[in-house]
Amino acid sequence: MAASAEWHCEKRPFNKNESFTRDNENVPETGCLSIVVLGASGDLAKKKTFPALYNLLSTDIQGFLQLNDVHIFGYSRTKLSDDELRDRIRGYLPQAKEVKDDVSNFLQLIKYVSGSYDAREGFQELDKAISEHELSKNSTEGSSRRLFYLALPPSVYPQVCKMIKSHCMNRSDLGGWTRIVVEKPFGKDLASAEELSSQIGELFDEPQIYRIDHYLGKELVQNLLVLRFANRFFLPLWNRDNIANIQIVFREDFGTEGRGGYFDQYGIIRDIIQNHLLQVLCLVAMEKPVSMKPEHVRDEKVKVLQSVVPIKDEEVVLGQYQGYKDDPTVPDNSNTPTFATVILRIHNERWEGVPFILKAGKALNSRKAEIRVQFKDVPGDIFKCQKQGRNEFVIRLQPSEAIYMKLTVKQPGLEMSTVQSELDLSYRQRYQGVVIPEAYERLILDTIKGDQQHFVRRDELKAAWEIFTPLLHSIDKGEFKSLPYKPGSRGPAQADQLLERAGYVQTHGYIWIPPTL
Ligand code: BG6
Repeated sequence: MAASAEWHCEKRPFNKNESFTRDNENVPETGCLSIVVLGASGDLAKKKTFPALYNLLSTDIQGFLQLNDVHIFGYSRTKLSDDELRDRIRGYLPQAKEVKDDVSNFLQLIKYVSGSYDAREGFQELDKAISEHELSKNSTEGSSRRLFYLALPPSVYPQVCKMIKSHCMNRSDLGGWTRIVVEKPFGKDLASAEELSSQIGELFDEPQIYRIDHYLGKELVQNLLVLRFANRFFLPLWNRDNIANIQIVFREDFGTEGRGGYFDQYGIIRDIIQNHLLQVLCLVAMEKPVSMKPEHVRDEKVKVLQSVVPIKDEEVVLGQYQGYKDDPTVPDNSNTPTFATVILRIHNERWEGVPFILKAGKALNSRKAEIRVQFKDVPGDIFKCQKQGRNEFVIRLQPSEAIYMKLTVKQPGLEMSTVQSELDLSYRQRYQGVVIPEAYERLILDTIKGDQQHFVRRDELKAAWEIFTPLLHSIDKGEFKSLPYKPGSRGPAQADQLLERAGYVQTHGYIWIPPTL
């Protein structure tokens, strides 16, 4: 078994009188595993879910899964045969000759059932197919594990959950667990998210619900707590006494191609900031948890969110790239932001006065996601080098994962002059040959293991919506205008001015260049 088994739940023998849906600490981790992808013919399933399952199953060298006991079911409305679904998925799996057999073996694990999302017949058929598979494996009591992955629009979550609960959990002989994975957007504001949470919460208990935010599955996001709490370096520095500001940035160098209709109803704050960037902020800002148990970690994240003070209008800049409205699915008068810089302020002992600058944009001049922690100036600058730049600690989430620390050193040579340089931990160079798993892969594995640490808890989601709902409502009402910016630019110039007002000092004449192998 893998080294991370330490975080696994305890196994316990099956006891017929126990409730199997209530307690994820005490559910079986072996037995027949059925992974059901609802929305199997859709984009998310084809592009993310099935490829992640393929990677997980084909590279299960660590033995996390007992491959012989896994079966995958696809469910959606489109009428398709098993082979037709497999053909649709094949194009998104690795194409190399060497893995041809692995791909075929994987596709053979998939069975397809079609049916609507609100009629019981389809779900009864699905249940039958799953049960047949379980029986064919001579499953024993307590050994049925059913994972339902909802690669569907949230509008159908409640009805689909109802169907699962009524028709796919009636196993008379077998006990085990049922878990539900849901994707964002989980609501559009506080009220709609809470309504959705209540509807699902009536059917399933919190330990059964896995709200995915795929940023929590990224390698360097998962490294944040280790960096912060396993290194003495950071302990005394990570606070308002030393840190001037923190930026969490997401940039894409392409627009909303093909997704304009969806995107226009949400905008960049709901699409990226309220979830992905805010989750990263929690890990950057939270206090040390009591332990790495999921509830201890999530308790600390919730505290951070609850300490965020209301966003001030003057600390927000919105933008929309020129040409966004050329998409026929986007209304001509759309004010939906494709770019936003928002400053959050955390009212607690550690962070009072330190701006957390969250910035996200589509159709910008580069593609990257990073966390940039900028330190204050050194007091009493005897080298007169302050203008060269401040110390910065940067965690590059993607592309080219890296952690680097920008610092001032003596220029090598006879002269006593200073220069900006960096301590650089570039992953591709340092960990050659190590494959970094895709976020979805890791998160699906967590759902199978019953580890909720990297999933968003209900109260966390609520607190996240509380922060952004007033701003989102005023944008929806048209009270807040998106400024135009050129595609391929840095975004509206006003965003850089806001950064400067927040105290960020840009270093001119220095740029970190990722090392090439
Ligand atoms: C998704 C957003 O959640 O994340 C997309 O809906 C965005 O708009 C994507 O492109 C970015 O994910 P990643 O992993 O490519 O940074």
